[in-house]
Amino acid sequence: MKISGNINLPGDKSISHRALMFASLTNGECVIHNISTGEDVESTRKCLAQCGIQSTKLENKVKITGGAFSIPSRPLDCGNSGTSIRLLAGLLSGKGITAEFIGDDSLSMRPMNRIIEPLIEMGVKIDSKNGYLPLAIKPEIVKGFSFSPSIASAQVKSCIMLAGFGAEGETIITEKVKTRDHSEIILKELGAPVSTNGKIKVEALSTSLQPFNMTIPGDPSSAAFFATAAAIIPNSSLTIKNILANPTRIGFFDVLKKMGGGVEWKNMHKECGELVGDVHVYWAPLNGIDITAEMVPSVIDELPIIAILATQADGPTSISGAEELRVKECDRIKAVCENLTAMGGEIIEKKDGFIINPPSRLYNTNIKTFGDHRIAMSFTIAGLLTESSNILDDEDCINISFPEFNSVLHKISQ
Ligand code: S3P
Repeated sequence: MKISGNINLPGDKSISHRALMFASLTNGECVIHNISTGEDVESTRKCLAQCGIQSTKLENKVKITGGAFSIPSRPLDCGNSGTSIRLLAGLLSGKGITAEFIGDDSLSMRPMNRIIEPLIEMGVKIDSKNGYLPLAIKPEIVKGFSFSPSIASAQVKSCIMLAGFGAEGETIITEKVKTRDHSEIILKELGAPVSTNGKIKVEALSTSLQPFNMTIPGDPSSAAFFATAAAIIPNSSLTIKNILANPTRIGFFDVLKKMGGGVEWKNMHKECGELVGDVHVYWAPLNGIDITAEMVPSVIDELPIIAILATQADGPTSISGAEELRVKECDRIKAVCENLTAMGGEIIEKKDGFIINPPSRLYNTNIKTFGDHRIAMSFTIAGLLTESSNILDDEDCINISFPEFNSVLHKISQ
């Protein structure tokens, strides 16, 4: 079996959430093409509808009309989506909208203090279950402030930027390590009062943004699964077209290249300020590398699939400074270590990452996904290295980000 073909992928999840939220700040109809078809982005769309921001969806195209927000009559259910709760909490705080947020079991176990503390500093009244969902916001007079987050998180940064649109005075954010910067890039492109010059500065949004049409570039985090398959199965060659190539998001491809993998970018262009290109990935012998803290934000969602990649390298790969992985959709350090060990791989768990000792002959087994879409997809790809395939305890969780995953994998497997 080998991996080959030319594919286009559904739109980037992070940009899809943001496109919907930024459209809500316009004064007319926006059309968003190639939006992520995953359940997470639907959570954002449904929560916005409950706040009076109406939209219609036909396959991967959404028409959404910005304008006045209303107070939701029921709690906003963010499902599994950390981006929905954290960004919407900022957006609604800036809009002065009182709301309560709930989520599924996984989201209810994820820390919210990282947004609660800065929002309280801005003057938002917040009730939560000791820093976890359910969380209620009651924005009164919101004030701008200078914020230097202790955790590298684009969700926290974007939350505070959106709250800053409704604040008196300027909001200034200083990041120690740069995280994905879609909010900054796209908001600037849409003419919002955002500037970036070392620090991110946000001023009150005194008038609505102009309605926009946008095509969301393919999701590089989804692309990483197929790129890994192409990189570890001899004779493979795969081109993934129109993929988001924002430097804060393509750490996976940089890592693959450093490991000796075949990676070539072509046809670079911009879409709504974001860099987009076609990436060609092909099999080549791999070596192990060290992934350190400053690289982590650009590969944060790809670390589980990088673990699979690393099992096929010549020499160990170590990942450190990635303790944030423990508070994602599941504890991804534990999930990767347990499942890879069950497949016969050699992996050492660390508090802030893991070390993989190849070469590993992997065996198919039963996989515990912990309901986490990225664990499910990573171990489906790992199954390609076995004589059969892995059996997942929950296939449906893949729909959280990438319902098309299995059909695309089938199409490129020859
Ligand atoms: C996201 C930021 C990252 C990432 C998540 C999406 C975003 O989370 O893991 O999948 O869209 O801003 P953190 O900001 O918590 O690191």
